[in-house]
Amino acid sequence: MFDPALFKLPGMRRLTVILALLAVVEGICIIIQAQFLSLAIVGLWQLKTLATIVQPMLIFAIAWTARQLLVVFKNRLMYPIVEKTSGDMRRQVMQKLYRLGPSYVAKTGTGNVVTTALEGIDKVQTYLMLVVIKVIDMMIIPWVILIYIAWLRWREALFLLAIFPLIIVFMIILGYAAQAKADKQYVGYQRMSNHFVDTLRGLPTLKQLGLSKQYASNVYQVSEGYRKQTMAVIKVAMLSTFALDFFTTLSIAVVAVFLGFGLINGTITLLPALVILVLSPDYFLPLRTFASDYHATLNGKNAFADVQKMLALPVPTHRDQLGTEPLDWQAGSRLSLSQVDFSYDDEQPALKQLNLTAHGYQRIGIIGASGSGKSTLINLLGGFLSPMPEHGTIEVNGQAVSHLNQTAWQQSFFYIPQSPYLFHATLAENIAFYQPDAGVSAIGQAAAKAGLTDWIKTLPDGLNTQIGEGARGVSGGQAQRIALARAFLDNSRKILLFDEPTAHLDIETEAELKQTILPVFENHLVFFATHRLHWINQMDYVLVLDHGKIVEQGTPAELVAHNGAYVRLRDEMVGAI
Ligand SMILES: Nc1ncnc2c1ncn2[C@@H]1O[C@H](COP(=O)(O)OP(=O)(O)OP(=O)(O)O)[C@@H](O)[C@H]1O
Ligand SMILES: [Mg+2]
Repeated sequence: MFDPALFKLPGMRRLTVILALLAVVEGICIIIQAQFLSLAIVGLWQLKTLATIVQPMLIFAIAWTARQLLVVFKNRLMYPIVEKTSGDMRRQVMQKLYRLGPSYVAKTGTGNVVTTALEGIDKVQTYLMLVVIKVIDMMIIPWVILIYIAWLRWREALFLLAIFPLIIVFMIILGYAAQAKADKQYVGYQRMSNHFVDTLRGLPTLKQLGLSKQYASNVYQVSEGYRKQTMAVIKVAMLSTFALDFFTTLSIAVVAVFLGFGLINGTITLLPALVILVLSPDYFLPLRTFASDYHATLNGKNAFADVQKMLALPVPTHRDQLGTEPLDWQAGSRLSLSQVDFSYDDEQPALKQLNLTAHGYQRIGIIGASGSGKSTLINLLGGFLSPMPEHGTIEVNGQAVSHLNQTAWQQSFFYIPQSPYLFHATLAENIAFYQPDAGVSAIGQAAAKAGLTDWIKTLPDGLNTQIGEGARGVSGGQAQRIALARAFLDNSRKILLFDEPTAHLDIETEAELKQTILPVFENHLVFFATHRLHWINQMDYVLVLDHGKIVEQGTPAELVAHNGAYVRLRDEMVGAI
């Protein structure tokens, strides 16, 4: 019915105790209220003077007000804690997201992550606000009332007691039905978010393919599916609210009949009978409010479970095996991988038995057919992916590490992918991304080295022009140059990871860019994944990948002499051209 993890949240235990005590007080208020209301009514019935009714009515009014104030007070008490919990949760989710890294986002879907981190937490907030107080009320108030009724007359109390578990069982059954529907609805919701983000990102492709209209109807169908799922949840909610109201009203009627017989037989007097009758609806009330809000909070419950699940995911540990300061990579430094395996799904390894050693300022080319694992290897070298545990060893300068997701390592390289990400910021800020303190002249020099000067001259605000999404667009070649300018600006990072930086550029742009890239190689350890063979001439060493395995490695001359996989690959590519 509710998530037990709820009561394990920080601060919740203390709050639970306070809320429980307040619930007892509320129960007592309800009893006083019923007692004195009945007293007044009985007084009227017995035609007593109005003056005798004033006092019970006054006490009734005080109890009634106290009860309302208690409800307000409980909500006031709850609110800051819910605010804090959801705020903390949002922070934790964001921190976790950074620690889990890009592979988690890729696996889960951007839409999903956005939903969990933003809307999901709002839903959790509603859920916490609604559910905690109601659960506690439901667990306490009925018993306080029941004890009082039992003290007045045990037979009616026994009947009410017997009905309670029946209603609970009934609620659980309907709850399961609703839960199943709500789970489906939540999946539908996530699907819709992912779909939407996916469509936005794929819009250019869809337009080019002339599929945008068709896809629009696809979006319609997905949201239509979500609407139906939502209606299904509401249907169950309506049904169960109706059934619950029906049952409780019926039970109260039965109690009334019992009391009526008691009155006729003279086994009970009017006052206790009236008190019991007035109390009976209040006995069921917490259950009914819980049930009616239960459906409204199912989404929040799912979002809560989702967030808890994400927070419980294991994060890469042992990130400081190389210390926390950037590495001082020098001519004598060394990275070696031996018998390392990597798998995306923990079953089929995507990279098998990697053996490689890189030292000093080597330039290492990584080549292989599409899908052979070049990007996977670059991501493994960057620590964005972690190798299978207990498979092989990785050493940096003789120090064994469990993966390359090392703070020190990651502060020592530049990663330059096919399309470097440009943040929504000025050009200067984008260049100084790794070195926010860099001065204007240093940024200008780096930009000049990266061959950006001519372009910058044409920009209205020069280096201060806003670029990135929602601002001025840049070409693929310019984006690469900005990424290179980052490398020129920060000369302390001595390792460069390139993943096909020129793959989507035309030959002329690539040739120009190559002249800019080559000087960056000086005094750097370079890993350069590429499809384009002319780069191989710039490399000292080449790894040839095939189906996740390094099938050949050596200097270009050695590979030619060996006349194996490298030569075959080269001939295939030349043939393709
Ligand atoms: N996130 C992922 N989950 C599961 N499998 C993946 C994932 N990314 C890549 N793969 C698989 O791993 C293999 C290697 O992919 P990878 O992207 O490393 O190839 P590549 O050599 O870089 O290819 P390309 O030249 O086309 O960029 C492929 O079979 C691919 O399908
Ligand atoms: Mg690739």
